[in-house]
Amino acid sequence: MRIPARVRATMAPPLGPLMERAAARRREGRELFMLAQAMVDCPPPPAFTRALADALRAGDPAMHRYAPDPGTAELRRALAAHLAGSFGLAPDPERELLVTPGANQAAYQLLSVLLDPGDEALLVTPWYFNHEMAIRLLGGRARTAPAEAASGFVPSIESLLAAWTPRLRLLVLVSPNNPTGARYPDDWLRALAGAIAGDERWRGVWILCDQTYQELYFEGGPPLSLGALPELSGRVLTVGSFSKSFALAGWRLGFLCGPAGVLDQALKVQDSSVICAPHAAQIALAHVLDAREEAEAYLATSRERLRRRRDALLAPLREAGRWELNVPGGACFAFVGLPGGASSASRLAAAASTAAPATAAPAIAASEPAGAQPGAAAAFAGSLLEAEGVAVVTGEVFGPRWSRFLRLGFGTESEERLSEAGRRIARHWAGM
Ligand SMILES: Cc1ncc(COP(=O)(O)O)c(C=O)c1O
Repeated sequence: MRIPARVRATMAPPLGPLMERAAARRREGRELFMLAQAMVDCPPPPAFTRALADALRAGDPAMHRYAPDPGTAELRRALAAHLAGSFGLAPDPERELLVTPGANQAAYQLLSVLLDPGDEALLVTPWYFNHEMAIRLLGGRARTAPAEAASGFVPSIESLLAAWTPRLRLLVLVSPNNPTGARYPDDWLRALAGAIAGDERWRGVWILCDQTYQELYFEGGPPLSLGALPELSGRVLTVGSFSKSFALAGWRLGFLCGPAGVLDQALKVQDSSVICAPHAAQIALAHVLDAREEAEAYLATSRERLRRRRDALLAPLREAGRWELNVPGGACFAFVGLPGGASSASRLAAAASTAAPATAAPAIAASEPAGAQPGAAAAFAGSLLEAEGVAVVTGEVFGPRWSRFLRLGFGTESEERLSEAGRRIARHWAGM
């Protein structure tokens, strides 16, 4: 039986083999430091579980039924008020907001309605792999512009503008970023908006802002939303998630905010795929957002907890020296480069030839720069898991050029354990 080439060319979910190895370690009672998951481990806001329990106790029949496709009226109203605060956006809750089962579904719906086969979407690398996978599945093409480690993983505006082609339909930005943790500076976002608005060629290009980590930032106030800037009015589509900010990943809640004309089209995809986000979860989330002060206090506590965890993880690597470190400004990841230098190449080569990689090989044409060692960080990560029990994700899954990098997640282990994990990573490298 024939499977279309665009589907076969799409990378398999890349973390599966790693998660299986980690689960096997757990089953065998062996130590495991889980730095591979894009999750936060704290319980959700108490208002969420309270509202769910109340609805169950009251026997509310609505929670077992479909919700309206675009989300319940109560949640869209509460969400619009929430977005005005945390995102600086002012959507009409009836026409410019869609409640989705997560941010991934929101992005997939957008890509479905904005790309024709052969159309291009511009991704910043290292990319969020599910965006690249979705573009391929839909028959689109991902163009890329790099965000270099030396620039704090913030891409240059010139490189983004220069990536324009007549087939470009969409620019995708993720800030705060997965996998780098970079928070694009507000001034950079303003300058980008001005540059795009002033460039005739870009007139037909949409901008998709994935702001899944909008509320997880570590310094200053909330990040600026491009969707709030008048220069780009009517061109920006914002997707967001409650998986991380409110630790509700399993309840599948996210949103899509943008011009009604696009959302009307995206609703067709939602209706024909998932119909609606889980109804019971929508009822409970509306309560969380309505209890504004409690929600704000919860988010402030999460930010502070993550900030301390970030520092605990990075301190041992900084102390070890020579690791390429960028301090994440948000999200729950650090994207770190293995130490460079003369002896590194032979260590990496040795690791690559002996250890099993920790993640599935991506089905992407990786054009590594000269001197890089494809698979080397994957091999390091594989032996790190085996020898030290630390599970991390290797750079390859975030696009070509990143095989010397590791994504270290700090959302699911305590400060103390992250500090120990950081020591083990440094020790393992030093001992190779
Ligand atoms: C940038 C980004 N977008 C979207 C998602 C998926 O979020 P959701 O659980 O809301 O689908 C993730 C999850 O890791 C992410 O990192």
